[in-house]
Amino acid sequence: MTGGAGRTPLGLGRWRAVSALAVSLFLSLAMMSGAGKLLAGSRVPSQAERVARGQYLFDAAGCFGCHTDEARGGQRLAGGRALTTPFGIFYPPNITPDPIYGIGSWSDAAFIRALRHGVRADGSSLFPAFPYTSYTLMDDGDILDLKAYLMTQKPVAQPNRPHELKDPFGWRVLMPAWNLMYLDVGPLDTNPHQSAQWNRGQYLVRALGHCGECHTPRDWAGGLDKRRMLAGNPGGDGVDASPNLTPDIETGLGRWSEADLSLFLEMGLKPNGDVVGGTMAEVVRNTTSQLTLADRKAIVAYLRSLPPLISTLPIASRGNAHR
Ligand code: HEC
Ligand code: HEC
Repeated sequence: MTGGAGRTPLGLGRWRAVSALAVSLFLSLAMMSGAGKLLAGSRVPSQAERVARGQYLFDAAGCFGCHTDEARGGQRLAGGRALTTPFGIFYPPNITPDPIYGIGSWSDAAFIRALRHGVRADGSSLFPAFPYTSYTLMDDGDILDLKAYLMTQKPVAQPNRPHELKDPFGWRVLMPAWNLMYLDVGPLDTNPHQSAQWNRGQYLVRALGHCGECHTPRDWAGGLDKRRMLAGNPGGDGVDASPNLTPDIETGLGRWSEADLSLFLEMGLKPNGDVVGGTMAEVVRNTTSQLTLADRKAIVAYLRSLPPLISTLPIASRGNAHR
């Protein structure tokens, strides 16, 4: 003790000294009896805990919907439904642990690189139809927990279907240049001026939920217009229009209460009684309804804190649920 006993009334200093001694005695006893391993183990999550965390992240990040061809009875994660985009049709690959047709032979580093940088195990570039532009914001620990979960899924030996893309959008060699223009490599920084809830909401919206991939307008090359983040996307070319999520009163969610938003994310019900349709119905089913109440509230808190942006979408595509 460094004189603490002298300054503290009621002999608190001495009590601390005694308890510190007791703790260190307990620790050394614990080490000797082999319980040290247990103590250390309680700080490092077990494999089962990592898989459980990974499963939650898998839902929060919506990996299932694109990589499973549900409508045509495809096997879980063995290769996805056709994704129609202005650049052509993408067929998301097999991400089961099959070592040949899936990602079973990928190292942890390769998996991190795919989500963080949009690069495949063989070093070639991925297309941003895989929303790595959002997943890049995830932290390494979460990416590895997600992989731990994927590796517990059933391997399926099903080859990938080649995409059907228009030139030059099917040229992987152009992607490093695209990334230089549009990819802001993560992970996401915590904003120290905001609450823990706000930061969690930002992570759920921007990194995991990749809400901006649909709700932010894109330019001719498919890059997100960052100045109009979440201000709505007019869609077209087979893509649904996605309304403005910023709190603008007339064209955004300004008139939705917190409870309205929370209920929507849980059940897909809009304040005017409409039930959500299109791809968002799937997002609610597979993703936002699967989250904890605390996480849904964090999303709401983050969305309500956004600067209100006026949507330039045609009125029919604005969502306009407050009317
Ligand atoms: C919006 C649809 C979509 C979502 C959501 C999505 N993916 Fe994909 N993913 C794709 C497409 C499309 C490709 C293929 C891109 C290409 O060929 O360049 C892909 C490729 C991949 C690859 C590369 C596999 C390979 O063999 O090259 C991995 C790994 C992957 N996704 C994992 C995930 C994980 C994990 C999640 C959830 C965190 C996820 N994906 C969510 C569409 C999606
Ligand atoms: C795959 C594309 C896609 C993703 C990802 C997506 N959305 Fe949507 N969202 C849509 C579409 C399309 C609609 C319009 C559906 C309708 O009106 O029936 C919509 C509607 C909404 C609405 C209702 C708005 C209104 O005015 O009616 C809210 C709120 C919303 N989304 C929130 C989110 C949040 C939060 C996320 C991320 C967790 C998210 N969305 C991710 C496509 C998407």
